[in-house]
Amino acid sequence: MVILGIESSCDECAAAVVEDGKRVLSNVVATQIPFHAAYDGVVPEIASRMHTEWIYSVVEESLHQAGLGPGDIEGVAATAHPGLLGSLLVGLSFAKAFAWARNVPFIAVDHMLAHLYASRLSDEAPDYPFLGLLVSGGHSIICRVDNFDAVTVLGATIDDAVGEAFDKVSKHYGFGYPGGVAIDTLAQTGNPLAFRFPLPNLHKGEHRYDLSYSGLKTAVINQLEQFRVPERGETAILPAVKPEDIAASFQKTAVAILLRSLFRAAEDTGLTTIVAGGGVAANSCLRSRLAERQDLRCIFPPLDLCGDNGAMIAGLGYPYLIRGDRSPLNVVASARVRAFKRNYP
Ligand code: KG4
Ligand code: ZN
Repeated sequence: MVILGIESSCDECAAAVVEDGKRVLSNVVATQIPFHAAYDGVVPEIASRMHTEWIYSVVEESLHQAGLGPGDIEGVAATAHPGLLGSLLVGLSFAKAFAWARNVPFIAVDHMLAHLYASRLSDEAPDYPFLGLLVSGGHSIICRVDNFDAVTVLGATIDDAVGEAFDKVSKHYGFGYPGGVAIDTLAQTGNPLAFRFPLPNLHKGEHRYDLSYSGLKTAVINQLEQFRVPERGETAILPAVKPEDIAASFQKTAVAILLRSLFRAAEDTGLTTIVAGGGVAANSCLRSRLAERQDLRCIFPPLDLCGDNGAMIAGLGYPYLIRGDRSPLNVVASARVRAFKRNYP
């Protein structure tokens, strides 16, 4: 089954064609990053306007790159939630119109479930159940995954998302936009031990697997000097703070917060396979720290499938559509995650 997937939840206008939920025939991502960079963040009004201008060409290009015409598409999948409402509506409406005009089945999918599906497009698909690590600009979730559509949230951030913390720290210090890649790159040359930032005090009861990033963000942005580790032989006059040391120390701590809860969940559940997804799954420090754990099988999507893309949407659409699921053409977009068994903040 050849499925067209459309993604427009944030600042990537994306469309892809995927066969049988596995073979990526095309994956077109038109990024709006340069248009939002001047504002150090995504401007919702600009995002939805650009999606409206670009969506037709992006879908056309995805068909062209796949070597197919509209008549070859056998099903359409689109992101319905979560995301920026105005942006979601553009891709969702386009997908509905395409499906209606071609008289092919249509399915509205959840963006976070699609991030979880992304690694199945390249890797040997692991058997269920496994642990999911969903880390993006808007969400940080540790979950138990029993099927492509059966996810139970074990822990989530109680304040900022991890990607958001990368973006805010980067914005404050002018490291670049988006912050994740900028900090990851800067950190390569920095000393991760230059600052010792505190980890959140969350390990009891219902918060056992939860995450928090507002404390780290405040420490890095407002209380930097307080957490500086003096260098050996240092005199009373401290040398200037190096940007790369801030980046490396922040990144090390951000990853440590994630892994502390993740490893705790692995230990408690006995699940030894971890599947990561979302923009922060591209982080080099996270990848190398997880690779150190010989006792866990950690599966990451390839870098081009970590961020937002249409292939993960088309991929996830497949198991729904072959099961016979269909979304009505009046299905609504929603800013919040709708697909998980337990809700989270
Ligand atoms: O999944 P995504 O593309 O969009 C959302 O659904 O939010 O994730 C974007 C987030 C941004 O916060 C970005 O800074 C972060 O992923 N990110 C990274 C890296 N690449 C992207 N964070 C850390 N390290 C990276 N290499
Ligand atoms: Zn995303």
